[in-house]
Amino acid sequence: SIKITPDWVRNRKNTGEKIAALTVVDYPTAKILDEAQIPLLLVGDSLGMVTLGYEDTTKVSLNDMLHHVRAVARANVKALVVADIPFGWNREAEKALYCSRKLYEAGAEAVKIEGGKEVGQIVKLLISQGIAVMGHIGLMPQFLGQPPKYRKYGIDEKEKKQIIDDALFLSRLGVFAIVLEALDEAVAAEVTRLIEVPTIGIGSGKYCDGQILVFHDLVGLFPWFRPKFVQPKLNMALLIKEAAIAYKKEVQSGL
Ligand code: KIV
Ligand code: NA
Repeated sequence: SIKITPDWVRNRKNTGEKIAALTVVDYPTAKILDEAQIPLLLVGDSLGMVTLGYEDTTKVSLNDMLHHVRAVARANVKALVVADIPFGWNREAEKALYCSRKLYEAGAEAVKIEGGKEVGQIVKLLISQGIAVMGHIGLMPQFLGQPPKYRKYGIDEKEKKQIIDDALFLSRLGVFAIVLEALDEAVAAEVTRLIEVPTIGIGSGKYCDGQILVFHDLVGLFPWFRPKFVQPKLNMALLIKEAAIAYKKEVQSGL
């Protein structure tokens, strides 16, 4: 079985084969998802909420990211391992490069950065230094502000135009894919038609070249907050609770 590369992901645009991506935070899950032949595993900064209990992704440190990237890297997956550049590291080129190198040393094979035109210089520098970059536009959790305002992006003409411009700009700089988060479905479809690299959607409708979900949402492991577009395939929270209750009964009954 051959290793998935950023170019493999980029080339899905030509084959029309849809990309099913998931987030991952630990070693056993990385092994399992790799056995399921998920081709792209993102160590996303959503780990701040779903595994570390932070309120939002702005609290995630580079060390938090490195800890989880190392765990995932130990699984030696066939999948491409992408890591988020966390908040505080992605608005200055030299810092973003330092951060990306640390993520690579930890085992990442590509990085993802939130932003459009405003991260142009950074994306250029990273790519020139051999870092594979994935874009992320539309809803950008690191820049939502407090309290976070979750909403659809690209509804009004001005925002729609900016999103399309940002997507074209990033794809021309050489990112190998772009995450489209919470875009109006028609806008996501238009971006997908216009750019030469795959779009990976989350809450952006069915016309993207691929989809990504937070693993914990897929399996119902973070039931306290469930985005509207997610249809959990499992109720892990309930299964774990039932197992713990059964175990407690067993212990208490002296068996
Ligand atoms: O951190 C994350 O989970 C992401 C996604 C695109 C789902 O950035
Ligand atoms: Na993220």
